[in-house]
Amino acid sequence: MEHIDDRQIKADDRQYVLHSWTRQKDVHPKIIRKANGIFFWDEAGRKFYDMCSQLVYLNVGHHHPKLMEEFKHIGEIPLASPGFATASKAELAKKIIEVAPENMAKVFFANGGADSNDHAVKIARMFTGRYKIFSRYRSYHGATFGAGNLSGESRRFTVEPGLPGFIKFETPYLYRETVHFDSEEAAADFYLERLNNQILYEGPDTIAAIFMETIPGSNGVLIPPKGYMEGVRELCTKYGILMICDEVMAGFGRTGKMFAVEHFDIKPDIMTFAKGVTCGYSPLGGVIVSREIADYFDDHVLMTGLTYSGHTVSTQIGCATLDIYKEEHLVEHAAEMGEVLADRLEQLKRFASVGDVRCIGLFAAVELVKDKATKEPLIAYGMDYGKDKAGLMSKFVGLLMAHGFYTYSHESSVMIAPPLIITADELNEAMDLFEQALTDFEKLYLFPRQNLMAPQN
Ligand SMILES: Cc1ncc(COP(=O)(O)O)c(C=O)c1O
Repeated sequence: MEHIDDRQIKADDRQYVLHSWTRQKDVHPKIIRKANGIFFWDEAGRKFYDMCSQLVYLNVGHHHPKLMEEFKHIGEIPLASPGFATASKAELAKKIIEVAPENMAKVFFANGGADSNDHAVKIARMFTGRYKIFSRYRSYHGATFGAGNLSGESRRFTVEPGLPGFIKFETPYLYRETVHFDSEEAAADFYLERLNNQILYEGPDTIAAIFMETIPGSNGVLIPPKGYMEGVRELCTKYGILMICDEVMAGFGRTGKMFAVEHFDIKPDIMTFAKGVTCGYSPLGGVIVSREIADYFDDHVLMTGLTYSGHTVSTQIGCATLDIYKEEHLVEHAAEMGEVLADRLEQLKRFASVGDVRCIGLFAAVELVKDKATKEPLIAYGMDYGKDKAGLMSKFVGLLMAHGFYTYSHESSVMIAPPLIITADELNEAMDLFEQALTDFEKLYLFPRQNLMAPQN
């Protein structure tokens, strides 16, 4: 492509491109001019710590040399429609099954997270002969019509009125729960009892699957209380319902385990993945199914498909990406760096506006409040996406950018999910920037005339 100067790129972008989830007049995108590891530089030469791995996919960091090398060989890769066997498709499926829970047997490849979830719903319906799908409030499963119906937050409103048979239940969200629990186990029991009731009210024999982000990511890294995931598994087994875990964001090392399900004593029936399988170097997603489900389709037609299922370029990049996780011990490294991050997050609690911090591996959220005692959120529910452009969360994310800390927010939570290659020094440098931005934010917007540090409690 010929060189186009920055002003022209921005003008053409403004004139011809529609940007997602935003009012177009609010879009003033930067251009990434250079990128390496956990850093990128914009058109003005300003350096940023990429503290959300773009959209939580660049686990191996920007411009990884092994993947750059792989791209040099793209010309040698044959293009082949899904009916052909190819080396990269077979190899990647095998590599994924090797690192997935032991009951998993086969992979169906799709293009990204949302369509993988759509295919998982169809597979669950075909296998069970049932039609209802349970999924949770405060979840995000993608923007297609099917995944949009699964999603339990304001981004689903554009697919409403929704599909019949898509039922929502509550995600445990202990920081904002009004009931007091003596232990995490007690909280899990509370939510499980309500889920059990809802299953009974809906008719267990009509429910094909319970669909969950193993750890809801965009909605604020909501880590399930102890015993909850195991309890959902038990309910699924009891009623013959499939347990489907969406590992699109939490999978591939993000939480310090290869898949987030490994934090719990569970084996889901189906798992979906995308992002980290290629780290975004080429689009790819997929559905992993258990041995039982895989065997079922030996004798029954798998009535789903797509032109690029198992696309040779993406699966080749996927093979190289999975090798990197192993060669660089990225999953173990993420667990180790997660401890450094958790420690820095604990320290943030001294700030008056930090209501809660949640962290598992390099998957973290900082939830901001106007008032620690009342927990009043910085932004009211559903006010993201253009409605709050001049609001406090936008101001804070703007200040983070001004300090060179790149990330995004959802509701009142700020995502912190850097590439898994980050070092302890880099993590500490970035968190220093976060604290500087937070100090400025409180001084400028929240408590301009007050002592800024809240008493420790
Ligand atoms: C948990 C989860 N599932 C599904 C998706 C949708 O993936 P995609 O944007 O690739 O369709 C996302 C996107 O962020 C996600 O976080």
